[in-house]
Amino acid sequence: MNAVLQDGFGRQIDYLRLSVTDRCDFRCVYCMAKNMTFLPRQQVLTLEELQRLARLFVGQGVRKIRLTGGEPLIRPGILGLCRDIAALPGLRELVMTSNGSQLGRLAGPLAEAGVKRMNISLDSLDAQKFRAITRNGDLEHVLGGIEAARNAGFERVKLNCVVMKGRNFDEVPALVQYAIDQRIDISFIEEMPLGDVGRSRGEAFCSSEEVRALIAKSHPLLDSTENSGGPARYVRLEQHPETRIGFISPNSHNFCGSCNRVRMTVEGKLLLCLGQDDALDLRQLLRRYPLDDQPVISAVQKALRGKPLRHDFTPDTEVQIVRFMNMSGG
Ligand code: 5AD
Ligand code: SF4
Repeated sequence: MNAVLQDGFGRQIDYLRLSVTDRCDFRCVYCMAKNMTFLPRQQVLTLEELQRLARLFVGQGVRKIRLTGGEPLIRPGILGLCRDIAALPGLRELVMTSNGSQLGRLAGPLAEAGVKRMNISLDSLDAQKFRAITRNGDLEHVLGGIEAARNAGFERVKLNCVVMKGRNFDEVPALVQYAIDQRIDISFIEEMPLGDVGRSRGEAFCSSEEVRALIAKSHPLLDSTENSGGPARYVRLEQHPETRIGFISPNSHNFCGSCNRVRMTVEGKLLLCLGQDDALDLRQLLRRYPLDDQPVISAVQKALRGKPLRHDFTPDTEVQIVRFMNMSGG
């Protein structure tokens, strides 16, 4: 049986982003407020529930699962969860987004558990600026984590950088050089207006066009039609074929038309679109039907028919979605 999940616009949903914790050892300024209240344990999906959801979605045609957070690596039991999900028949790849803080110790075991690719956040190469952006983060730890990931045998390691004026825009060339030196890809991300993080977003907003223009000053760029199954548009560097530069521009609509994904919050809410509030409470269904998958599957199929056509972020508006990013799953 080859099940497929389809939305009301005929888009095939084969990619699930699964948030495994809302907690994080960092407090990045674009993601969290300084003082965050995290969810009480009983509201968070158990490891068994996460695994059950993964199995149900793969049974319905999902081929790629990304574990996110919060910081997925601070969830106790994460390695066993990775092992279980990676072994699901029909899954093509299990991948992860991490802040890198725990990778020095966990990169090897994660690759062994079956995680195929690792996206690591890196917003600055200056220890002080890094600390200012992440509020808690230790740059040396993260650089060690990136190194460990490169040596762990993942099929791909990629960096993600949220660019903000007055914080790290001027570091873009240095971050590109770091990616070149490490022979890995890097994506630059426009900040999304998610959650009231306690500061105005508009003034720091930096468009992908500006970032691209800055890089082009020191590197001839080659447009590329490559697509890694995500929303990034890639360019290649004429002189450095091993590094691709991605631009993720959520504030324009360029990728909604080919959207192939849904997100599961750590509370078991199925988010149909990052920029909309529509959600289905799956935790309630999982707990009401512990032994019967069909009601859960039917509810997912029905909810998908209502997946919105597109999100509506605009850079000059303040918070549009009250959810924090650590709730939505990076
Ligand atoms: N805008 C854009 N990207 C964000 N992330 C978190 N919050 C935001 C936001 N407001 C992304 C970053 C981070 C990953 C975990 O989630 O890329 O690296
Ligand atoms: Fe943590 Fe990632 Fe959010 Fe930063 S962006 S606070 S590392 S979850």
